[in-house]
Amino acid sequence: MTTQSPRGLAVVTGASVGIGRATAEALEKAGYAVLSASRRLPTIPPAPTGITTHQLDVTDTDSVTALESAVAEHPVPLTLLVNNAGIPTHAATIADSDITDWRSTYETNVVGAVQMTKALLPHLIANRGHVQFIGSTVGRVPYERGAAYAASKFGLTAMVQTLRLELNGEPVRVTEIAPGMMRGDEAGGEFMRERFHNDEAAIASVYKGVEHPLTPEDIAECVVWCATRPAHVDIDLMEIRPLAQAAQHKVHRTS
Ligand SMILES: NC(=O)c1ccc[n+]([C@@H]2O[C@H](COP(=O)([O-])OP(=O)(O)OC[C@H]3O[C@@H](n4cnc5c(N)ncnc54)[C@H](OP(=O)(O)O)[C@@H]3O)[C@@H](O)[C@H]2O)c1
Repeated sequence: MTTQSPRGLAVVTGASVGIGRATAEALEKAGYAVLSASRRLPTIPPAPTGITTHQLDVTDTDSVTALESAVAEHPVPLTLLVNNAGIPTHAATIADSDITDWRSTYETNVVGAVQMTKALLPHLIANRGHVQFIGSTVGRVPYERGAAYAASKFGLTAMVQTLRLELNGEPVRVTEIAPGMMRGDEAGGEFMRERFHNDEAAIASVYKGVEHPLTPEDIAECVVWCATRPAHVDIDLMEIRPLAQAAQHKVHRTS
């Protein structure tokens, strides 16, 4: 560790926008050197000085290997990996769903997180580190027209729980953060725009009358809080919903 980055190096995947970008910024403020990795390199706004950007496609093995080399060469030892990169599936019933969507969702949301974890685990073990995964409340209770996405998040949860069992005895903490209803920006965020093919009316109906959905910054704070507990305190799972969402299908709407 250095005096500028007393908490070590954090890698955040999918950090060009949304939860990943907010998390990279929050971790940098909390004293981490941050390697922010996604397919697009963020240009606007410019990244704070403690954040280095790195091009990464979590589904591409060569790209993951290149990221591991960047971590190995980094002057600050890796202490935190946040597996955040994820894609929604286009809203569709199972009967109408596109098989390509099923494959790409699983490939990114599950296999991508596995590839990253496998590649960086030796560093995390050596540095008594922490690996966090951004799951979803949909990884516990699915909704109609979202089966491929829900299945990927159920799959991610199974992988995370298995990893924790397999790492028992190693000095690595394993955390799943499962956000509920979140609004990335006024237009819903890139995630919702992709899910609903930019159908503004469909996106608006999800949030209609919901006071204060979660924001990416809310989730980023949870990541930082879990990461900054003492080394023996492992937060297994944090489920977060906005106050208006009592359960997946129980949402209070004012209109
Ligand atoms: N939005 C929600 O309502 C919500 C709720 C619960 C959980 N989540 C989960 O939270 C995570 C982040 O969601 P978000 O809403 O912030 O999504 P977002 O705004 O769509 O951002 C997704 C990020 O993942 C990156 N990404 C996608 N595919 C990638 C790949 N193959 N390799 C590397 N990076 C990739 C994207 O960057 P590039 O395109 O530049 O690669 C982007 O930075 C996801 O795992 C999502 O499932 C979201």
